[in-house]
Amino acid sequence: MSFYITCAIDYPNSRPHIGTAYEKIAADTIVRYKRLMGEDVFFLMGLDEHSQNVYKRAEEQGLEPITFTNQMEDVFRAAWTAVNVEFDDFIRTTQPLHRVAVKAMVDRTKAAGDLYEGVYKGFYCVSCEAYYGERDLVEGQCPVHETKPEFREEANVFFRLSAYQERLKSHYERHPEFVQPDYRRNELMSLLNEGLADISVSRASDGWGIPMPGHEGQSVYVWFDALTAYLAATGFPEETDRYKKFWPADMHLVGKDITRFHAIIWPAMLMSAGLPLPKTIFGHGWVLTGGGRMSKSMGNVMDPVATAERFGADALRYFLLREAPFGRDLEFDHERFVGRYNADLANDLGNLLQRTVGMAMKYQNGLLGGPGEGDVTGLSTAAQEEARTYCDAMDIYELQTGLKAIWSLVRAGNLAVDTHAPWELAKHPDKAGELDAVLSQLAALLHQIAILAYPFMPERSTAMAKALGQDQDPGMWRLDNLHDPSLAPRQVQETEPLFPRLDPEEVIGSNA
Ligand code: MSP
Repeated sequence: MSFYITCAIDYPNSRPHIGTAYEKIAADTIVRYKRLMGEDVFFLMGLDEHSQNVYKRAEEQGLEPITFTNQMEDVFRAAWTAVNVEFDDFIRTTQPLHRVAVKAMVDRTKAAGDLYEGVYKGFYCVSCEAYYGERDLVEGQCPVHETKPEFREEANVFFRLSAYQERLKSHYERHPEFVQPDYRRNELMSLLNEGLADISVSRASDGWGIPMPGHEGQSVYVWFDALTAYLAATGFPEETDRYKKFWPADMHLVGKDITRFHAIIWPAMLMSAGLPLPKTIFGHGWVLTGGGRMSKSMGNVMDPVATAERFGADALRYFLLREAPFGRDLEFDHERFVGRYNADLANDLGNLLQRTVGMAMKYQNGLLGGPGEGDVTGLSTAAQEEARTYCDAMDIYELQTGLKAIWSLVRAGNLAVDTHAPWELAKHPDKAGELDAVLSQLAALLHQIAILAYPFMPERSTAMAKALGQDQDPGMWRLDNLHDPSLAPRQVQETEPLFPRLDPEEVIGSNA
């Protein structure tokens, strides 16, 4: 089965922060899970370059916009590598193939009779690149950026969004999975019920955006431009193999602030162009600091690269996806981070691996006979049950529930160590068989944990699998054979601590 997933394409006017990294990490986790399930995945990320803030930032630095965005591409790619995010394609809206796709979308919507000339009058937030009606503002300010929008009056090209209101409503009704989670769907349904106004899809050109075909001096509205990137990356308007295989996209994963662009404007554009709609728009929550959205404009951003360098990318990934149900906001601060790191990663998981490997080395020279027929520890049954819970959760993007299922196994493993006390068994030569069964079952469990945890922490899971003597990268496994006893570890080796304990005082007292 094929699975096409996209993240929002970022504005490159400033470096990525932990909030923007969160979305990419979540998408990467879903991708790795889908691959463990044997799916053929295409994962797209990229840059949305034609925003006015990008143009302004380049100007401030005395650079041509394209020189600036070329530099920013390197910064973004380096950040995604630092947090173990591996995409299949990275689209930039300045690429020629993207321009071709945008032109095709303009032509198609025009041919459908959905573009017309008009005069726009109203408020515009440059950071959102969006128009706001007076009633949308909060005390005269943009509800997302808490800044005063500009008043604009311009002759523009309009898109007949209002014509799609009823078709959108009926699509939402027939496809409850179209907007997720359901609380976002409800929000958008009320927007649809309030009624849709036509939108302006061009603006006076500053020479940076994509020229609006047939309207000299105007460039294509940056959202019309950027949303088309999802199609452009498949080769559209050419019916390439990639297009045929992957369009329509299975999932657009975006923040809750931009869900409405994806769930209202984008499907209306596609309907107008006569193209199939994506299956799911998932609007995730925000990473907050001190109760507010982490964002450049709020001045509270934290650097994902520095955090990953200091604590490990996988620890950061774990924290972000464990802290709140996926879809809801979460608060990031050092106190919460160090608490969860020490409790779940260093103590629970790290110790289970350390203890199991340590005992297998001490009592059996690292050699294991295999888990055997009888499930003396009960761990094999537990693994089957929790793996089912994990898959059921991951299939509906409940990433936090997936992690909780893994940690039930981690706890079961630690409990089995305490209950079966291998150090006592080791004192009695006649219990050698039982000792080997207990250690082998613990090692088999740890290997299963490494595979299940791989989507969340690819690098640490690989280190775990190595310590368990498995040459195969856990990402190459298929969940189908997770429980095959012939694949369980047979020889373990001494290992460095997976997650060295952090000193809370030192971490909380620092700002990095
Ligand atoms: N360029 C547009 C998206 C166009 S998609 C066709 C954009 N860019 S952005 O750089 O402002 O944001 C990129 C993504 O990061 C968005 O999905 C946004 O919701 C998300 N986030 C930005 N700040 C965030 C947090 N503090 N927390 C979680 N996600 C955040 O919007």
